[in-house]
Amino acid sequence: AKNVGILAMEIYFPPTCVQQEALEAHDGASKGKYTIGLGQDCMAFCTEVEDVISMSLTAVTSLLEKYKIDPKQIGRLEVGSETVIDKSKSIKTFLMQIFEKCGNTDIEGVDSTNACYGGTAALFNCVNWVESSSWDGRYGLVVCTDSAVYAEGPARPTGGAAAITMLIGPDAPIAFESKFRGSHMSHAYDFYKPNLASEYPVVDGKLSQTCYLMALDTCYKYFCHKYEKLEGKQFCISDADYFVFHSPYNKLVQKSFSRLLYQDFMRNASSVDDAAKEKLAPFSTLTGDESYQSRDLEKVSQQVSKPLYDAKVQPTTLVPKQVGNMYTASLYAAFASLIHNKNSELAGKRVILFSYGSGLTATMFSLRLHEGQHPFSLSNIATVMNVAGKLKSRHEFIPEKFVETMKLMEHRYGAKDFVTSKDCSLLSPGTYYLTEVDSMYRRFYAKK
Ligand code: ACO
Repeated sequence: AKNVGILAMEIYFPPTCVQQEALEAHDGASKGKYTIGLGQDCMAFCTEVEDVISMSLTAVTSLLEKYKIDPKQIGRLEVGSETVIDKSKSIKTFLMQIFEKCGNTDIEGVDSTNACYGGTAALFNCVNWVESSSWDGRYGLVVCTDSAVYAEGPARPTGGAAAITMLIGPDAPIAFESKFRGSHMSHAYDFYKPNLASEYPVVDGKLSQTCYLMALDTCYKYFCHKYEKLEGKQFCISDADYFVFHSPYNKLVQKSFSRLLYQDFMRNASSVDDAAKEKLAPFSTLTGDESYQSRDLEKVSQQVSKPLYDAKVQPTTLVPKQVGNMYTASLYAAFASLIHNKNSELAGKRVILFSYGSGLTATMFSLRLHEGQHPFSLSNIATVMNVAGKLKSRHEFIPEKFVETMKLMEHRYGAKDFVTSKDCSLLSPGTYYLTEVDSMYRRFYAKK
């Protein structure tokens, strides 16, 4: 199979959200802390009728319907998620309800978990399957689904929720350049979920930022090394049209891109012009550790990289800024933003993606885009996802109602024997929602 990659995409996020500006005021944070300091506009969250299973049921059903894919044509289904609803039964098995109905139970794949990286693991598994000798000619389907919620405190405004589905096969408009890839994996306690009774993570915010940036640097180093070995020339940020980052909050994405420019400067790469070189010169002797601590370097490199950021990164930031961190779906929601913003202009472009999951696992990889053929074309993917329409039809909650919802969700997490309000008035038609968890912890869903 040639040009294996993403044929089709669909995105779903809850219609319920809270404005960061309002949350800022409510939390008593200084004005601009969440909107400018973190760079976030709005945050989506699940109410008691939605969870990672309902969101993924919605996203999978919608993808199959909108691209007219017969469920029998799916041969592999992989889910990435870090939202634990059951320690044994996979989210994938819940999604099998869609396929069983159509007489298809011959579907490989289960769930992959490591913080925000699980979606990338699922994606690589599907791509590898299509490229392998065990491929049976059918499509792979990847689902990234998460509800990111934090305890009250500084991390709470970096929540979010969404599910993304991606159809995988040959001759894709979004094709993998599989040889260009760099990973970095190591042991860290930056963000983890050891308390199985709570949905909230234990998080060392500052450490997680540094781990993220160090992983980015290391992946970039390996990525460049492999590129140079295969292509016989140096790689620099000018060799890619767009950079898409896992997006816990936008400020970290800004810092990440400026870090790549700093790496290019240190490698004496052609992407850095003379004016930028002059400004970065004072930082050329910093050790690696010092460079992560230097506020001046952060400031100068962000300033120097601003024009390139506006061209190569800004178009990828819409959904993450509007919806928040979607954990496994976050990187792919950023990529979806790019398709939404630039669809027809993307043919021939190279896009570099950086996936990060705390704990930690990270990969930088490369995609090459083609217009493709209907229904698997970039313009049709943009139409189906309807990002603008979905963002516009949301319902804003006041912070007090958001906090109240979080309290109820804490209470419901891991609970049994309850029925939900079944109030799906805010959901759009076709959305799945949770109706009941019975005395045996079995979960039941309905479709609006
Ligand atoms: N106006 C403008 N900017 C402001 C204001 C203001 N009024 N107040 C603060 N800021 C800036 C700060 O200067 C800082 O920016 P900087 O990093 O450029 O200096 C930024 O806002 C954040 O403020 P801090 O005080 O540094 O951060 P805080 O302790 O409140 O927490 C954090 C932020 C660590 C990101 C927290 O939200 C968190 O722990 N989030 C979850 C962890 C996370 O997302 N990690 C990322 C990778 S791992 C993952 O994906 C889960």
